[in-house]
Amino acid sequence: MGTALVVTSGKGGVGKTTTTANLGAALALLHKKVCVVDLDLGLRNLDSALGLQNRIIYTIVDVIQGRADIEQALIAHPDFDGQLYLLPAAQNADKNVLTAQAVKQVVSALKKNFDFILLDCPAGIETGFENAVAGADGAILVTNPENVAVSDADRIVGLLEARHLEFGPRLIINRIRKNLMNKGLTMNVAQITDHLAIPLLGIVFDDDEVIATANQGKLVAVNADNPAAQGYRNIARRMLGETVPLMSLTDETNLATDEVVTEPIKNKSLANSATDQTQDVVDPIASAAADKVSEPTTEMKELTQTAKQPAVKEASKTKKSADLSAKTDTNVKATATESAPKTAATTVEKPTPPKKLSFWQRLFGRRQ
Ligand SMILES: Nc1ncnc2c1ncn2[C@@H]1O[C@H](COP(=O)(O)OP(=O)(O)OP(=O)(O)O)[C@@H](O)[C@H]1O
Ligand SMILES: [Mg+2]
Repeated sequence: MGTALVVTSGKGGVGKTTTTANLGAALALLHKKVCVVDLDLGLRNLDSALGLQNRIIYTIVDVIQGRADIEQALIAHPDFDGQLYLLPAAQNADKNVLTAQAVKQVVSALKKNFDFILLDCPAGIETGFENAVAGADGAILVTNPENVAVSDADRIVGLLEARHLEFGPRLIINRIRKNLMNKGLTMNVAQITDHLAIPLLGIVFDDDEVIATANQGKLVAVNADNPAAQGYRNIARRMLGETVPLMSLTDETNLATDEVVTEPIKNKSLANSATDQTQDVVDPIASAAADKVSEPTTEMKELTQTAKQPAVKEASKTKKSADLSAKTDTNVKATATESAPKTAATTVEKPTPPKKLSFWQRLFGRRQ
């Protein structure tokens, strides 16, 4: 059985669809069988992000209303050798068709044939969000380093935690502009993770090529030397249990010197390849495994925070880690984790204990 993860954000336009498409591609490149599902009825952007908009015959609405089997509606991406599929949304359908029950049924059918099902969620906290979460085993929360995005994400964290999903929410900070972050003009990674208090799955730099490739119906994730693609690929590797250090936020170029994805990725042994970590960033606490469809020897690892990461020192997070420990499968061999730097200028330093700042003080940089 596969694992279904909803990609959500609260605020619109932070990169949910881009993340769903590129993370799906990155997981497919790692030999996982992935289905990305567009649950943003009406807007329907995921097909364009994948360059598949001209191949749509049936949609998820046709499946729900019995006009098509799920296999008829699925579109195989031609560049991924049968590893990446899209279940498209309908553009003109009544949104009420997509009930929580219907999403659950579709996802449950997909889980039989895919390792990962990534659910692209509409913005907001309305019915569309509720329905998407209903079908998910876990959540990936995408935010930008902007006050309003983080503030909306905070609301989503509360809603997600109330659902008690099997895998607690994991954070991706998308569209990081290093120059702004290093000048203190945006919240830095530590401030965001400290505020949201959920484990960091990874960071993705803001990069023109993301937009340029999307406009050509291509996926930036296939370009191994692109900084944003590296972010997506690193996240995929962490999801499969590798420990991959956080990309550098200080170097002059966007290319990280300490986070080069080894090619060819396809030949790596996922279960045993957590060899590129540094001692400073690796301190696994817990793992949880999900059944695999195509690769029973490699488990999806539940990513956890290190003891050195301020975000997980909160009592509620510690309890969650303990809960996850209890669920740890004996087959799990490794746990991946990403440490947030204490400041934008350091990536592997041991962070000092978090300062007691209010949310607004952290946002605006005032100290007590
Ligand atoms: N890392 C990135 N670098 C540069 N541009 C990006 C990046 N991530 C996303 N974008 C761009 O940001 C815009 C919004 O992205 P996207 O459509 O994925 O957001 P969304 O959260 O799905 O939006 P919505 O809430 O409307 O569904 C797009 O133009 C996309 O190309
Ligand atoms: Mg979208």
